[in-house]
Amino acid sequence: MWLFFLTALLFGCRPVDTPAPIQPLELVVLDIPPGIPDMEIEPGNELTQLRVDLGKRLFFDPILSRDKSISCSSCHHQSQAFADFSPVSTGVEGRKGKRNASTLVNLGWHEVFNHDGGTATLELQMQVPLTEHVEMDMTFQEIITRLAMEPDYVRHFAQAYPENGLSGYGLTRAIGAYERTLVSFNSPYDDFTYRGISDALNASQKRGLELFNSDRTQCSSCHTGFNFRREGFENNGLYAEFADSGRAGITIKPEDRGKFKIPTLRNIGQTAPYMHDGSLWSLAEVVDHYASGGANHPNQSGLVSGFFLTEQERIDLINFLLALTDQKLLTNPTLTP
Ligand code: HEC
Ligand code: HEC
Repeated sequence: MWLFFLTALLFGCRPVDTPAPIQPLELVVLDIPPGIPDMEIEPGNELTQLRVDLGKRLFFDPILSRDKSISCSSCHHQSQAFADFSPVSTGVEGRKGKRNASTLVNLGWHEVFNHDGGTATLELQMQVPLTEHVEMDMTFQEIITRLAMEPDYVRHFAQAYPENGLSGYGLTRAIGAYERTLVSFNSPYDDFTYRGISDALNASQKRGLELFNSDRTQCSSCHTGFNFRREGFENNGLYAEFADSGRAGITIKPEDRGKFKIPTLRNIGQTAPYMHDGSLWSLAEVVDHYASGGANHPNQSGLVSGFFLTEQERIDLINFLLALTDQKLLTNPTLTP
């Protein structure tokens, strides 16, 4: 007995060649230029390195899906600014969804999530893919039971969320913490606007920026601010009749039919195909859609009323949209486990 204690004392508590542990409260520093408002962080879920690393592991781990084949990253690819390259995504057992997977950048500044704004926080949003039949098809109980069999996860949860440990609370908070670190402010547009580098945009892109902000195109009436979006839902006249009722699916109001969350345009060159159903394949098609004045749905916004662009102007507008691509985000190795 005595010998056992002595051995435990000598060897049990001595870390042998382990790397210096991450301090529980060490915060992740986000790459955000001056001029951008602070992101709101839920008290108790400050972006510590431990939490973000846990969220990152979970985001890329197919253990969260029924047949262990699909992770969040199966539909949200870093190279596509965490959007999907298919019009609609494929979940477990090849099941197809109905909507195009959104980019996940700068979500810390969004007030609602999903194309219909059906969820109000990131922590609530992820319950959709985790439990949805055509996505990951799990229950929280099943996920926690699975993770409980992985000692490394159990330890990581206990370190990141000492009060809750392995739990639905920690799971959603950790993935939410990781998602909030997916900030994108390193495009040529950002260098031009926030870092004062006047030649970060070429002449064509500068003309495109002016067109984008002009009364002619009205683009910036909806795609505005540092995220190229304002809060709210609009019908941009994609169809005369919508198969997907959009916002009306949540509010049940006929005037919300065909209205969708105004999406960000950051990294738009990487996130094709476009719109809630992934029905437009290129930025040229998108510009042509707006230029045509839309399909005249009864709820179509008056801001989508058509315009004429010369061939050079059309190229300029598209070149400007391509200047919203943040190469650093697409390749940053610290965003993958
Ligand atoms: C099978 C594909 C698929 C998987 C797996 C998936 N997503 Fe998604 N994601 C989508 C689709 C499709 C949408 C759009 C849903 C909608 O609008 O109804 C979406 C939307 C989102 C949004 C909303 C973004 C916004 O701007 O409103 C977030 C956040 C998100 N997903 C996070 C996650 C997380 C976290 C996971 C893993 C737990 C995950 N997704 C797994 C396909 C997927
Ligand atoms: C009345 C508001 C409004 C105006 C004006 C507007 N948009 Fe949009 N835009 C939207 C909405 C809403 C969506 C999402 C539609 C959907 O999901 O089906 C969207 C989607 C897009 C998309 C696809 C985004 C994605 O991730 O799939 C692009 C690109 C885009 N708009 C560019 C433009 C450009 C360029 C202009 C100006 C020529 C413009 N928009 C004018 C509201 C607007």
